[in-house]
Amino acid sequence: MTSAKGAGALPLNTILSGDCVEAMNALPEASVDLVFADPPYNLQLKGDLHRPDNSRVDAVDDDWDRFDSFAAYDRFTRDWLAAARRVLKPHGAIWVIGSYHNIFRMGAELQNQGFWILNDVVWRKSNPMPNFRGKRLTNAHETLIWASRGEGAKYTFNYEALKALNEGVQMRSDWVLPICTGHERLKDANGDKAHPTQKPAALLHRVLVATTNPGDVVLDPFFGTGTTGAVAKMLGRDFIGIEREESYRRVAEDRLANVRKFDRAALAVSTSKRAEPRIPFGQLVERGLLLPGEVLISPRGKTAKVRADGTLVGEAVTGSIHQVGAALEGAPSCNGWTYWHFKRDGKTVPIDILRQQIRAEMADRPN
Ligand SMILES: C[S@@+](CC[C@H](N)C(=O)[O-])C[C@H]1O[C@@H](n2cnc3c(N)ncnc32)[C@H](O)[C@@H]1O
Repeated sequence: MTSAKGAGALPLNTILSGDCVEAMNALPEASVDLVFADPPYNLQLKGDLHRPDNSRVDAVDDDWDRFDSFAAYDRFTRDWLAAARRVLKPHGAIWVIGSYHNIFRMGAELQNQGFWILNDVVWRKSNPMPNFRGKRLTNAHETLIWASRGEGAKYTFNYEALKALNEGVQMRSDWVLPICTGHERLKDANGDKAHPTQKPAALLHRVLVATTNPGDVVLDPFFGTGTTGAVAKMLGRDFIGIEREESYRRVAEDRLANVRKFDRAALAVSTSKRAEPRIPFGQLVERGLLLPGEVLISPRGKTAKVRADGTLVGEAVTGSIHQVGAALEGAPSCNGWTYWHFKRDGKTVPIDILRQQIRAEMADRPN
C-alpha cells in the first residue's frame, strides 16, 4: 500500500487487492471523479505466435485475459461497468481502452447502462508490432471511449489545456503516441517485461490533463503496473488502484514510490475565458480599485465617468461598461473590459488589469 490519506472512507493513493467488482462495491457511492479502465482484452489467442526468424512473440496469453465465451466476457463487462457507474460522481466520467477484440462489446454495454459517449479516440501507435503472418493489416491502433454518466450530465473537459498541448491547434480524436518501450517499460528481475500490456504514460497524461483537475480522484480498476496512478500522482490527482495479481501490485508499488508530484505552479493548465470566475465591474468600484467620479478613456479618446453602482455615464448615455462603449462607438457591441482604460502614475492602463488582479487573488486563496 502507498500512503493512504483519509477523506472519509476513501482509500486514496492506495492499491486495493482482489476482484475489482467487489472492491468497487465496497467503496462509497458517487465518490470518484474519473474512472480509467484498461480491462482484459479477451484476445482469444490460439497457440503461440512466431516471428519470421522463428522467435516466439511475447503475446498476451495470461490467465487473466481468458474468458470461456463472448457471453462470459459480456457478463464480466456488465458487472464491472455497473460497479464503476455506482462509484462515479454525477458529473464524473469514464474512459475505457480496448482493441477490436473487446471495444465494441464495451461500447454497447456503456450505452446499455446509460453512459453517454462523448468521443472515441483512436490511439495510433507510431511504433506498432508488425503483422508477422502477413495475413491481415498491421494492427496499429487501440480505441478509447470517453463517456459521461448520462445524456446531459456535466463532465470536465479542459479544452484550452489540450489545445495548448497541441501547440495552439484544437486537439483531435486521433492521438499518435508510441507504445511503451525502452526505459519506460518496467522489467522483472530477469529483464523480461514486468507486465504484458503496460500503457504509455503519455496516453494517461493526455487523458488526465484533458478530463480531470488537480485534487480529483481517479479510479483504475485494472491497475496493472499502475500507469494511471503514476501519472495521477505526478499531476497532483488522487488515485485508487485495484489489481488482482499480487506480482503486478508489487511492481506498481515500487513504481509509485519513485514518482514525484510536479510542483503546484506546473500543474495549472490553460483555461477558457468562460471557465474563469465572473467579476462584475461594480466589484472594482466596491473595492476602491476605481473611484466613483473617476474618468475612463477609450483608445480613441472618448471618455465616461464611473458611478457608485458600477455603471458609467458618458456623453448622453449611461449603462454598463459594454453598453456605454458600444453607444459611443455606434457599434452593436463592445467589450468594455478591453475598451476602457484608466490613468495611474501617468500611464494609461486597461481596466481588465484590475479584473485579472482580483482573479489572481482568488486563485491564490487556499481551497
Ligand atoms: C490490460 S491490464 C492493465 C494494464 C495497465 N493499464 C498498465 O498500464 O499497466 C489489465 C489488468 O487487470 C487485472 N485484472 C484482470 N481482471 C481483474 C479483476 N477482475 N479485478 C482486478 N484486476 C483484474 C490484470 O491482472 C491486469 O493486470
